[in-house]
Amino acid sequence: MLAEEKNIIESLAREFLDNALTLRYDICTCQLCRNDMLTNIISKIPPEYLSPPQLTQQTVMEQARLKYRGEIVRVALAAIESVSKNPSHSLSEDRNHSFKSLLNQIVQDRGLDFRQYHQGLIKRKIAMRMRSHKVESYAGYGRLLTKSPEEFDKLLEELCINVSEFFRDKEVWITVKYLLENLIKQKKIRNDRSLRIWSAGCANGEEPYSLAILLQEILRTEPWAFELELAASDIDKKALLAAQAGAYPKENLKNVEDRYLKNYFITLADGRFQVKDAIKAMVKFLRLDLIRDDSIREADVVVCRNVFIYFNRSLQEQLLMKFYRSLKAGGYLVMGKAEILLTEAEEIFKEVDSNARIYQKKEA
Ligand SMILES: C[S@@+](CC[C@H](N)C(=O)[O-])C[C@H]1O[C@@H](n2cnc3c(N)ncnc32)[C@H](O)[C@@H]1O
Repeated sequence: MLAEEKNIIESLAREFLDNALTLRYDICTCQLCRNDMLTNIISKIPPEYLSPPQLTQQTVMEQARLKYRGEIVRVALAAIESVSKNPSHSLSEDRNHSFKSLLNQIVQDRGLDFRQYHQGLIKRKIAMRMRSHKVESYAGYGRLLTKSPEEFDKLLEELCINVSEFFRDKEVWITVKYLLENLIKQKKIRNDRSLRIWSAGCANGEEPYSLAILLQEILRTEPWAFELELAASDIDKKALLAAQAGAYPKENLKNVEDRYLKNYFITLADGRFQVKDAIKAMVKFLRLDLIRDDSIREADVVVCRNVFIYFNRSLQEQLLMKFYRSLKAGGYLVMGKAEILLTEAEEIFKEVDSNARIYQKKEA
């Protein structure tokens, strides 16, 4: 192998390694471990990747990048795993332990429990906050949280990840509208004058307001005097305040039809759109932790979209049982596009629409 060639591979490996380790506060990334990882990577590059190509000086890095990248990515990930599991020096901090302590601190100080959420996701979110403060250990970050309530708020915002939009996954809402129309028709036939809908994990309110708009639309053509309860809950107090204010930037409304925009929103001086009072009045917001708190009872429809993805399997199971108990016989559960019903739950829910991820509570 030519010296120049080895340098190229080394620099590519180093570049990849640095990128891959940027947010890895969960393992030791000291210089010694980095060097071990690099040596490990170089030793694993198969010989065919090391035969000297005929390259000009200008294109040498680009061509080498194209040629070796895939291989370096593969061996570098293996090297990170292997060295971090078996570092060649003693560790000053047990990162698993200090990560758990940090999650315990969040429970104790703010009453939010992320211990059973997908740990990879939570670690990435925490790493982003740590990076913005250039803190390198979980223990150090824990100390920062103790000193700075503002940073604690920012971390919780990051962990709660409350991005949403009106009529998220537009095509799903065509099915949801159809479902609501049918439900109302059946209720009329049975002379059942109550309708209870729960938007669980409602973030900044776009989802419950989308439901309220659809109900208004249905009732415009099918008037019906009934008692509507449209409850919307979230764990995040800040999100709930934003939801109650009901004002949104244009990009959150990209799926809103023009006539809905005209009928159900007003434009604010700053260019945002605010839901009209008639829509606001239909939704009752409440703070509720889906894991710890009691749920809404006797619901006809539970909409819980893009919330399951944060929970591990056992929490998802608990949540599905909770929704099962929440729903009336024959009630509907609407999940997110990327979320699938656990096989265990097929005993208690039947699929109504696989594309829109709508399920119906089976009779006991
Ligand atoms: C990505 S948003 C989903 C918003 C909306 N359902 C949608 O699909 O656009 C996820 C929401 O779940 C909430 N959440 C996370 N864990 C929760 C919990 N344990 N209890 C209640 N809400 C929770 C977050 O605060 C966040 O607002």
